[in-house]
Amino acid sequence: MPVEDIVTQLTTHWQFDYEPKVKALRDLYEVAKREQWNVETDIDWTLEIDKDGDILAQEQDPTREFDVVLALPDDKRQQLAISNAAWILSQFLHGEQGALLCCGQLIESVPDIDGKLYAATQVVDEARHVEVFHKYIRRLHKVYPIDPTLQAVLNQILEADMWQMKCVGMQVIVEGLAMGAFKIMKEQSNDELLRNVVELTAQDEARHVSYGLIYMKDEIPRMSDPDRDRVEDFAYTAVEALSGRKPGTGMTTQTDLFGEVGLDVAAVAAEMIEKLQDPEFQARQPDAFRDYVMPQLTRLGIITERTAPKYRELGFQV
Ligand SMILES: [Fe+2]
Ligand SMILES: [Fe+2]
Repeated sequence: MPVEDIVTQLTTHWQFDYEPKVKALRDLYEVAKREQWNVETDIDWTLEIDKDGDILAQEQDPTREFDVVLALPDDKRQQLAISNAAWILSQFLHGEQGALLCCGQLIESVPDIDGKLYAATQVVDEARHVEVFHKYIRRLHKVYPIDPTLQAVLNQILEADMWQMKCVGMQVIVEGLAMGAFKIMKEQSNDELLRNVVELTAQDEARHVSYGLIYMKDEIPRMSDPDRDRVEDFAYTAVEALSGRKPGTGMTTQTDLFGEVGLDVAAVAAEMIEKLQDPEFQARQPDAFRDYVMPQLTRLGIITERTAPKYRELGFQV
């Protein structure tokens, strides 16, 4: 079995004051208990995936309009669309496992009883998400390996020695990205089964983002200046790596798929660079960082005078 080990630094807190303290987290815990669902019985698995239809929206698979892709014969173009969808969903599957592992850590490392109880419900949510994406991807095509950039960021979150880093990295940044992507899939995928999957998943993810926001809104002002600086820098590092706005960053293994259908990967990359300089093309691309991650980081006060210039260098308006 392909097991990989990392060594993490985690301080485990017992909390012997069992009285509810953070009402908003308790309320979220109650909602989470009520809104559990079952992958086997709450999704209609009799629905067939229409592999000739568009699994992902055009916005989530922009290479579909590339000249080199349009020049492919129909069967190859369809094969590429399916492998692209499977690759993207595989990254979500691995991200879900990362979230599962991180939440287990949050149970141990957050100080409040309300935070521990809520995180326990999220562990079950993330287990369900691992299950549901794996089941869907197996029907669609195959599971692709985790992209090294995504894995590096998830490892940094799991290895972090402060629970606040885990909370910002996972609950605000990674979950925020997932929310953005699931929203587009839910609204625009032509595949009814995938729409069912992401509709239920996105309901859970909305709670997960809320947990990060509720918890960190109280926590950030309580932190010492050096600790807050570390969390701010940690957030920037994750955004820089995943947003791919600097040369040599972002996820890179998706381009291998073009080689699978006999395309010259360098030619596809060249067309990508050309397209990225076209403002019309850019405007049509969804940007989960701009729409979901940056507003939350700003609201939490994690983007400060000290770190804002670095975000501006990446092209964000902060
Ligand atoms: Fe999830
Ligand atoms: Fe989540």
